[in-house]
Amino acid sequence: MQLALTQDVEHLAFPKRAARDSPRQRLLRRAVGLSVEAGNWSTHEIPLFDLTRAQDRFMDSEHAKALNAGVTTSRLVLEPCTSAHAALMFGAMQDPEIYRWISMVPPTSPDALADAWARAESRRSPAGDRAWLSWIVRSAGDGTCLGWVDSEVGGCVALNLGYVIYPSHWGRGIATEAVGAVVGHLEAHGIERHVALVTVGNTASMRVLDKLGFERTRVLVANDTIRGELHDEIEFVRDVRRGA
Ligand SMILES: CC(C)(COP(=O)(O)OP(=O)(O)OC[C@H]1O[C@@H](n2cnc3c(N)ncnc32)[C@H](O)[C@@H]1OP(=O)(O)O)[C@@H](O)C(=O)NCCC(=O)NCCS
Repeated sequence: MQLALTQDVEHLAFPKRAARDSPRQRLLRRAVGLSVEAGNWSTHEIPLFDLTRAQDRFMDSEHAKALNAGVTTSRLVLEPCTSAHAALMFGAMQDPEIYRWISMVPPTSPDALADAWARAESRRSPAGDRAWLSWIVRSAGDGTCLGWVDSEVGGCVALNLGYVIYPSHWGRGIATEAVGAVVGHLEAHGIERHVALVTVGNTASMRVLDKLGFERTRVLVANDTIRGELHDEIEFVRDVRRGA
């Protein structure tokens, strides 16, 4: 999974489905519990975006900011990410455990991180067609920074949902609570579909999405490069119209 905080939008180009499965794809689909019947390969009956619709071509800046409003849960406060968070987050972001299954790399300095997050404060992609949303997850009790959640919205679709919780807080349901809160918040603002890509092997991340009612829809072979090695990814989709 490529996290939106890296501000790289190349990942939006989803590879087309191969005309025929290779033996490797068939194995992978069995490994992740997807049916080998062609009809179950993907649940995308409609394109993610319809470029004839104005809302899919243009993201209003005020709307993008409203989508990135703060969110709270019983244990957590999710704040819109700003350059001011960089100094608080930089140290914990150096932990290599975080990056085992993701292509993102640790920030090189607090200033570089602050610069990147300052550029993201407009909440809009440079082309003006997507909202780039990111929240810092903090403890509601003492304000400790626990990680972050991000997503990228075009029209009524949230692509590339990403999340990181710092290793010292793993296994306490923090990711499920934070990601569930963001998903609920976006759905209350009209988002109908969420898409996340998870590297094959990242079991904890898959479990978070399973618990939140996402469905595994397809395997994207060699879709991500993590420290020079190609990795397959599983696409997870949560679709309001399917009653997820
Ligand atoms: C994925 C991640 C966000 C999960 O954070 P978390 O706060 O520990 O998640 P939760 O506690 O809400 O849920 C984790 C679930 O995975 C399970 N789990 C954790 N490690 C596991 C493993 N190796 N095998 C099987 N299940 C595992 C936990 O038991 C829990 O499920 P349960 O509630 O049914 O017991 C965290 O591990 C992380 O930040 N990883 C590094 C960054 C990353 O990979 N992000 C995801 C990118 S797709």
